[in-house]
Amino acid sequence: MTDNTARPPVADARARHQELVQEVEAHRAAYYGDDAPTVSDAQYDVLERELQDLEALHPELATPESPTRTVGAASAPTGFESVKHRERMMSLDNAFGIDEVESWLARVGKEAGDQEIVCEPKIDGLSISLTYVDGELTRGVTRGDGTTGEDVTANVRTIATIPQRLTGAAPALVEIRGEVFLPVAAFEELNAGLVAEGKAPYANPRNTAAGSLRQKNSEVTASRPLDVTTYALGALEWGATQVDARVSTQAGIYRALADWGLPVSEFTAVLRGREAIDAYLTDLESKRHDLVHEIDGAVLKVNDRAVQAELGFTSRAPRWAIAYKFAPEEVHTILEDIRVDVGRTGRVTPYGVMTPTLVAGSTVTYATLHNAHEVARKGVRIGDTVVLRKAGDVIPEIVGPVVAARTGAEREWTMPANCPSCGTPLAEQKQGDKDLRCPNSQSCPAQIVDRIAFIGSRGAFDVEVLGEKGAHALVESGVLQNEAGLFSLSMEDLRRVPLLTYESDEKLTKKQVAAGEGGRKAGDVSANGIKLLDNLEEAKSQPLWRVVVSLSIRHVGPTASRALATAFGSMDAIRAADAETLAAVDGVGPVIAEAVQQWFEVPWHVEIVERWAAAGVRMEDERDESLPDTLAGLTVVATGSLENFTRDSVKEAIISRGGKAASTVSKNTDYVVAGAGAGSKATKAEALGVTILDEAAFQLLLESGPDAL
Ligand code: IVH
Repeated sequence: MTDNTARPPVADARARHQELVQEVEAHRAAYYGDDAPTVSDAQYDVLERELQDLEALHPELATPESPTRTVGAASAPTGFESVKHRERMMSLDNAFGIDEVESWLARVGKEAGDQEIVCEPKIDGLSISLTYVDGELTRGVTRGDGTTGEDVTANVRTIATIPQRLTGAAPALVEIRGEVFLPVAAFEELNAGLVAEGKAPYANPRNTAAGSLRQKNSEVTASRPLDVTTYALGALEWGATQVDARVSTQAGIYRALADWGLPVSEFTAVLRGREAIDAYLTDLESKRHDLVHEIDGAVLKVNDRAVQAELGFTSRAPRWAIAYKFAPEEVHTILEDIRVDVGRTGRVTPYGVMTPTLVAGSTVTYATLHNAHEVARKGVRIGDTVVLRKAGDVIPEIVGPVVAARTGAEREWTMPANCPSCGTPLAEQKQGDKDLRCPNSQSCPAQIVDRIAFIGSRGAFDVEVLGEKGAHALVESGVLQNEAGLFSLSMEDLRRVPLLTYESDEKLTKKQVAAGEGGRKAGDVSANGIKLLDNLEEAKSQPLWRVVVSLSIRHVGPTASRALATAFGSMDAIRAADAETLAAVDGVGPVIAEAVQQWFEVPWHVEIVERWAAAGVRMEDERDESLPDTLAGLTVVATGSLENFTRDSVKEAIISRGGKAASTVSKNTDYVVAGAGAGSKATKAEALGVTILDEAAFQLLLESGPDAL
């Protein structure tokens, strides 16, 4: 937004203007010329917007060559023949946020009254102009600087969805504008192949599409499943063909394009009024990842072409259209460091520490790099500018370095050979493993702290006060050597843990002193400490599967723990079972069976179980005989949120009635219980013809079995 109160002095403005022009031009050359951008789209947009604002304050700086008045990149020699477009290819002005969309709507309304607006996805690809003469494809040209582009006809002809000949009553000559893209699925497949061959993957679908279309060898282009969506007309001559009246509206153009055999967007809507348009934009953003191609926003266009002509163009963009940009999902940030984390199973994981950056609505500082092979594959160095991506709900990922931004000061990272916590040499668990582990599970402090914190987590004993910090304090103070002593902690023990005691005496009022009140003293166990002991006491009567999961046996997560607890009923029975019996349990199998057996062969492991049992931790499930076996032989999946069950208690309810609680829907599923917000699992159940139950029907099933339904 332009801020007129902060008008900078002219000399400063001129210097900043020059800087911005140079920067924007360099970024355009990298993006359009080399298909290898050096800043993220979002950063580029910020620079361009600053330039526009500066020129609004100092109109004398806005020369005709300014990037605010030009389109794309001035054409550098590329080896492709230059071709002049018959009609210029324009760019679009951006709206960041609904407010800016509403200002645009207001401007249109003021000039032309209330109008129908065509709303459509803004495809993140590269624009193309296709010329058809008497219905035959004669040329495919990139946008270039809007006036002149590169002749990529031979490559365009390899795109299967671009017809060589138009169907129906085609004009004598037409320039059709659209966006070439690489579908996300094809991009992912291409990258998976490259990674499997040990090659560096491509950064994103847009640059891959651009690079693919601008190949000197058309066979390479043909090997990439490029696609196109068309959205505009350039030059148009009807000749002897009867004029198609539909081209008098934007939506009509799309119907004509579709009839000629060209792909158009299926998400286009013709809307009127602010509210309907806002709702469209919100809806499209929520569907952002469901489309076959990437989109970075929506394009809004006045539907009536006579009104379009009235509103006209600025030097680079139509006044009758605007691009609404979504919050960016890909940003650039600095990889300040690579550190390693030692997990509860000893796995040593490198992770990136970045300059905190806002991406897709949250600030990101850390992202896992999985293992040393991944760091090498991504080719990132400490100090690199990196592409950070957080698509929707997906965990943030460091995509790779921006090689062009390197200064030479970046440092290669090497995986440490020794555990950063205990110094033990790291090793592969078995040959060929990508992960390295610290084998010192008995006394590596990092592993012990993580295991203890895990015991406190929701998926295990659910002890609120026992988080990472609490676990660390208990180990650091020497009160716990490992998890064996956790359930025998006493008040006396906690007095030695600074985090769980009061730092200073409580300040008493005169009245309290007069009344002879003692108050809390420094070193007394704090309210949190007392809560920890209370919670641990309560935890002792948790069901068996929570005890099993808390042992941190490799591969034994909540599902396997439940299966073991249900099948054997007690810790003694699990320990006594032979490998074959263990492996035969539904949901266990040979790998888990072996891990369980090996775990019990280690004396200090057995001591954990024994000390927990001695402290009163319940080591067997009381089978509630009063519960009927209503679900015997049935597999049930629960999804969405239910009113009377949590995610855990719904599983317990199923298992305690003899049923199997599964987490994925398959043709073996008997029932899906769908609560509020049930998503893809319910859809899959419908597709497979699996019976879907609401919560009331599920209660009935629990009480009386399937015959009652
Ligand atoms: S219309 C005269 N519609 O976005 C108007 N452009 O940032 C020409 N783009 O240069 C553009 N999806 O490459 C239009 N549905 C869509 C689009 C779209 C993507 C691209 C196009 C344009 C750029 C502007």
